[in-house]
Amino acid sequence: MDRIVIRGGRPLEGEIYVGGAKNAALPLMAACLLTDETLTLTNLPHLADISTLAKLLSTLGVELHMNGNGGAGGSSGRVLEMTAGRIADTCAPYDLVRKMRASVLVLGPLVAREGLGSVSLPGGCAIGTRPIDLHLAGLEALGAEIELKEGYIEARAPNGLTGGEVVFPKVSVGATENILMAACLASGETRLVNAAREPEIVDLANCLTAMGAEIEGAGTASITVRGQSRLHGARHEVIADRIEAGTYAMAAAITDGDLHLVGARGEHLRSALEVLGQAGVAVTETNRGLQVRRANGRLQGTDAMTEAFPGFPTDLQAQFMALMATAQGAAMITETIFENRFMHVPELARMGANVTVHGASALVRGVERLTGAPVMATDLRASVSLVLAGLAAEGETVLNRVYHLDRGYERVEDKLSACGADIRRVPE
Ligand code: EPZ
Repeated sequence: MDRIVIRGGRPLEGEIYVGGAKNAALPLMAACLLTDETLTLTNLPHLADISTLAKLLSTLGVELHMNGNGGAGGSSGRVLEMTAGRIADTCAPYDLVRKMRASVLVLGPLVAREGLGSVSLPGGCAIGTRPIDLHLAGLEALGAEIELKEGYIEARAPNGLTGGEVVFPKVSVGATENILMAACLASGETRLVNAAREPEIVDLANCLTAMGAEIEGAGTASITVRGQSRLHGARHEVIADRIEAGTYAMAAAITDGDLHLVGARGEHLRSALEVLGQAGVAVTETNRGLQVRRANGRLQGTDAMTEAFPGFPTDLQAQFMALMATAQGAAMITETIFENRFMHVPELARMGANVTVHGASALVRGVERLTGAPVMATDLRASVSLVLAGLAAEGETVLNRVYHLDRGYERVEDKLSACGADIRRVPE
């Protein structure tokens, strides 16, 4: 397994191109199952999770053609053509779902297109049990019969899905995406109530609309879909990754640097930028993205609470904790979305951070300096928070199990070293 070695203490200066959003690209790829024509996605990031889903789609019978540059603003985004001419299989197997929970996003499209879909129960992951009960309840509300057989969930709708009202008892990004896609081919009208409002949902709705779907209200808590008998192909550009942008904004702040994040969109990060402003980070919107530097000298400890969009994103919580570890004063960070998303705390502590966890809240008391240490990545965002800490720490940090990082960050060592970081990947 590769390791990443960082010698900290160097301010980051220069430009970083923000890639296409992983959490938009994954549901967009699943949407190809809704039509027998070609769906082309551009500005697709080079990430392990994208490759895993591409492999799953090809086992289902989708023809995929991936080629080079089609990214926005000269970034390295790939172009992916997918044609689900014929569905050869309707089962997402355990060995692929185990690797990536987002595989469950093929369930809704499969049931809507074929009247049958089965997906291995994903099992838990490092940040929590992450059940899929909301996905299944939503499909049942559209007339699917759900059965659990030998660790697989089977959803059947032999006479097709019927539009109806789907009320989510709690906000779920994935469940909203699964039901939104299924509803596009259901007969009649579907209303999603208490839907997730993330920009990735809006991006998916825009792509589905380009494919012939009729959708109103994406980005609000109430979405209406008028089902169609079929959808057609389309070409769609994946939106920029707001979590990658937020991560590199914090890299600029933690190293007291000055970075231009090309492709970043302020309107997708309002809450996070608000908190960063209170912490003493100046973010200026430019015509190409966001310019980020410290407003004046040390950072101030600032509280944050993760919430569904438009609240502070849970996917930036670990990175913000690393930033607060060297701020002046204390910061109370509360995680309300996942039940076990503080795996980065003991690793940050090895680098000298002073963090006390009480249930869903962590109290961070800022220290003068962090010190480099060998640390272990546990999940995608925890691993990048350790990279941020390593960039600011005195001495050398060695990050193990870098495969977690590669699931969601494209060429992180190249992007950071191009801005002055002393960071390199050491292949095992
Ligand atoms: C998506 O996961 C993202 N992944 C996550 O990003 C992100 O953290 C999360 O949304 C919240 O914003 C992708 O988009 C591929 P949820 P998802 O359904 O859809 C519970 C990253 O680092 N829940 O909104 O799985 C669930 O356990 C990843 O890029 C149920 O109880 O998240 C969690 O506590 C991590 N039943 C909460 O809801 C369900 O059926 C929110 O989960 C579904 C979810």
